[in-house]
Amino acid sequence: MYTDKMLRDDALKGKNIVVTGGGSGLGKAMTKYFLELGARVAITSRDLEKLQHTARELEDETGGTCLPVACDVRHYDQVEAMLKQVLDNFGQVDVLLNNAAGNFISPTERLSANAFDTIIDIVLKGSKNCTLAFGKHWIAGKQQNTVVLNIVTTYSWTGSAYVVPSATAKAGVLAMTRSLAVEWAKYGIRFNAIAPGPFPTKGAWDRLLPGELKEKFDLARKVPLKRVGEHQELANLAAYLVSDFAAYLNGEVITIDGGEWLKGAGQFNLLDQIPEAMWDMLENTIRKNSR
Ligand code: COA
Repeated sequence: MYTDKMLRDDALKGKNIVVTGGGSGLGKAMTKYFLELGARVAITSRDLEKLQHTARELEDETGGTCLPVACDVRHYDQVEAMLKQVLDNFGQVDVLLNNAAGNFISPTERLSANAFDTIIDIVLKGSKNCTLAFGKHWIAGKQQNTVVLNIVTTYSWTGSAYVVPSATAKAGVLAMTRSLAVEWAKYGIRFNAIAPGPFPTKGAWDRLLPGELKEKFDLARKVPLKRVGEHQELANLAAYLVSDFAAYLNGEVITIDGGEWLKGAGQFNLLDQIPEAMWDMLENTIRKNSR
């Protein structure tokens, strides 16, 4: 079953993982599975109280060790302090999951310069701050077998109207993933990205499908597989990518969207609205005309 847990119980034993934005949503779902697989996980966000609550809940549920650390990824000094706190507690860190993000829908001309900056700062600058701080630390300590996993989106390469700051920033995160996969491979650091399609969470849905939009735009309908994603499916992929089973996977972006973005891209994909009976008529017409 696709919602089953994929890896063996101790698959991440001995790994120390930092999940930015781990207090809620998809970050929390991935954190929970990492804990179940034996990793120790530090979760970060601006809201320490929320993090503490999540950490307690996940520790109770999994029996694992979850460390809440306040950190606004937009500020490099806070990222350095977060790394230090993780090291003080765990002794070593092996995996960085750049999951923290910010987004809301808006016509671009309605955005203030600060609104645009805010999204770029969280998504692109935040991922850069964490990647640079952790990378410098790993390289200076000659630590091998480390991993950066970035959460992007399928509009990192297609672009998307109405979420332009996010699209711009996520494109940058994808470029950074691919660039450093090559440059820092010699230091034993692997870089990969996941591009999730619709995986409903409260945070994203309140900002991307507010109010009536939720009913008007049933995202499952845009997906060839006719459903949204289950959090465990994403957690399974993330756990695999940060595990040693993925040791030869580097510089890749893996889309997990049920075929959603390709459905929007293929020139003739709309033809799946044509009923079977009409195809007989169309085929006859095409054959007649091409004689
Ligand atoms: N439309 C237009 N502008 C908006 C807006 C909206 N819906 N929401 C916020 N802004 C503007 C603000 O007015 C402000 O600009 P201004 O100073 O010129 O007025 C700017 O964006 C920053 O907003 P502020 O609330 O001060 O920033 P913040 O750092 O507290 O919040 C957000 C950042 C807006 C991204 C907030 O939604 C957030 O914290 N999100 C994090 C989680 C998230 O987005 N998850 C979903 C990922 S899909």
